[in-house]
Amino acid sequence: MPSSTENNTQPWFERRPLVALAPMEAVTDCAYRRIARSIAPNAVLYTEFVPARGLLAGAAKVWEMAHFEEMERPIVIQLYDSVPEALGDAVAAVREKYQPDGFDLNMGCPMRKVANRGAGCGMMATPDIAVDSVRRMVENANGIPVSVKTRLGIRKRDEVVDLARACIDAGAEQITIHARLKAERPREAADWTALSSAACKLRVPIIGNGDIWTVSDALKMNSLEGIDGVMIARGGIGNPWLLQRCCQAIADEAIDPLPDREEKARVAKMHLRANVELKGERRGVLELRKIVRNYIKGHIDSRRTWMRIIETITLTDTLKVLDDFARGPDDSQ
Ligand SMILES: Cc1cc2nc3c(=O)[nH]c(=O)nc-3n(C[C@H](O)[C@H](O)[C@H](O)COP(=O)(O)O)c2cc1C
Repeated sequence: MPSSTENNTQPWFERRPLVALAPMEAVTDCAYRRIARSIAPNAVLYTEFVPARGLLAGAAKVWEMAHFEEMERPIVIQLYDSVPEALGDAVAAVREKYQPDGFDLNMGCPMRKVANRGAGCGMMATPDIAVDSVRRMVENANGIPVSVKTRLGIRKRDEVVDLARACIDAGAEQITIHARLKAERPREAADWTALSSAACKLRVPIIGNGDIWTVSDALKMNSLEGIDGVMIARGGIGNPWLLQRCCQAIADEAIDPLPDREEKARVAKMHLRANVELKGERRGVLELRKIVRNYIKGHIDSRRTWMRIIETITLTDTLKVLDDFARGPDDSQ
């Protein structure tokens, strides 16, 4: 089995172990992806979902969402829209400018403002549009692989099979399945049995997604029949070490110890600085608060530290709170 730090050159989805940080709006931006890459050299990274027509309109904020640094590779840019032509044109425009390692079509977002307009999970209800979208993306990708991230279904847990087969026939080279139905909330358990059953019926690499919180969750999902890799979303927010530990476990290598509070503070500070560099001080500090809360979880003074964090608005003060946290008692388990 290849080492989890080996620098592979094959298409991103042929890497083994195949561990991905999920696309997450307002989380997996360039700042966090840089942090994730520094901790997990071999994980696959995704951008947050990017609206195709926003790119075509030339919106600077939208182009910023698609921008990445070379060190982030392998990086997949995820797009969403309900208009196949727009998706195809956006792929051409982004490909010319950035040459990412992959383009992914979001067919799983259940948010009303997205799905009710026929994009995201809404596209599962219109297979012809889904297939046309994939076909146009593939036509314009010039050999860069196109993949799809979707759910088990809208109402039934096997709807994904026919849809994914049609997308594969249209040129999709990889499918990620989030093991929930459209209306299922994140607190409801992901259905890994239905996930494996669908994955077994598809002939391209399948990444499983839903409820990976620990290394043993990742090992278990990775060993399901039909599953080639795992994608981690909420479990990886403010916890980039989980990605690396999962890569190591799946590659059967020695697993890094859990980070202690000094390491957590070091990386949270790095993340904070990167966010401020990208977004300016006020936005950079305020937007990162919730994520910093995840970094500092699980310690005797987590709550006290969080209370101080929500009272600070400057970079210097927030860094100071994190320095104090780093000097706290050694209470790691
Ligand atoms: C804050 C947040 C933002 C998300 N944004 C996206 C997104 O932009 N694109 C996408 O395909 N899924 C998005 N998702 C869904 C996740 O990628 C993932 O499918 C879902 O959270 C299930 O995985 P988990 O159980 O590991 O959290 C988002 C999830 C969260 C929590």
